[in-house]
Amino acid sequence: MTPDKYLGRLILFEGPEGGGKSTLIKAIAERLRVNLGLSVVETKEPGHNTELGKRVRERLLHDKSLTNEQELALFINGRADHFEHIVIPALKAGKIVLCDRASPSTEAYQHYGRGMDKTDILVLDAEARRNVNFDLIILLDIDPVIGLARKNRDNRFEQEKLEFHQKVRAGYLDMAMTDVEKKWVVIDASQPLETVQALAWNAIYDFLLKSIDTITR
Ligand code: TYD
Repeated sequence: MTPDKYLGRLILFEGPEGGGKSTLIKAIAERLRVNLGLSVVETKEPGHNTELGKRVRERLLHDKSLTNEQELALFINGRADHFEHIVIPALKAGKIVLCDRASPSTEAYQHYGRGMDKTDILVLDAEARRNVNFDLIILLDIDPVIGLARKNRDNRFEQEKLEFHQKVRAGYLDMAMTDVEKKWVVIDASQPLETVQALAWNAIYDFLLKSIDTITR
């Protein structure tokens, strides 16, 4: 995101299945609100809080007839709706947006996992999010053997083979390692919850300190 375009900040949480993103986001949101008095929006993909978002999530997780192309189109359309109705208005209002999955999930799952064309994905994705960029990306890295054991495996993605999830994990690590803008922070999510939360909090706090002058309290 261009700091002079919107007042808010967009912090993204990413990673393979079972890394503990949703628990971490709740804890971080609470600390940002209580300790720093910031205005925070928690949101997620797929399944952000609009009618379209909920419908898209249901199909993506459970419709076994979807082709890879249909799956990608649903993620992209969902993202366009998410950014238009939730993310961009919150950023314009100066809020801290904590987002559970977005563009890197598409690259990790649809490109590295499913083998779909990377350039096509990048072009469609940038358009869907109106070129709004993520300010900080927290990657909760976890071995899929450990991560999947924490899940019920009750949706299409969780039911994919271990090999698929290994490709997804490798994709995330590749994105983080080749990040020239230094926006990615990789955290080993197999560590105790308190350690993971402390590492994420330190990274977010440092980032906010650097950009505090433009954040509305
Ligand atoms: P969800 O239950 O939200 O998973 P999690 O709790 O692990 O975040 O299911 C979302 C699934 O959708 C997850 O397996 C990752 C996948 N996904 C993609 O394949 N591409 C995408 O662009 C996004 C946003 C998610």
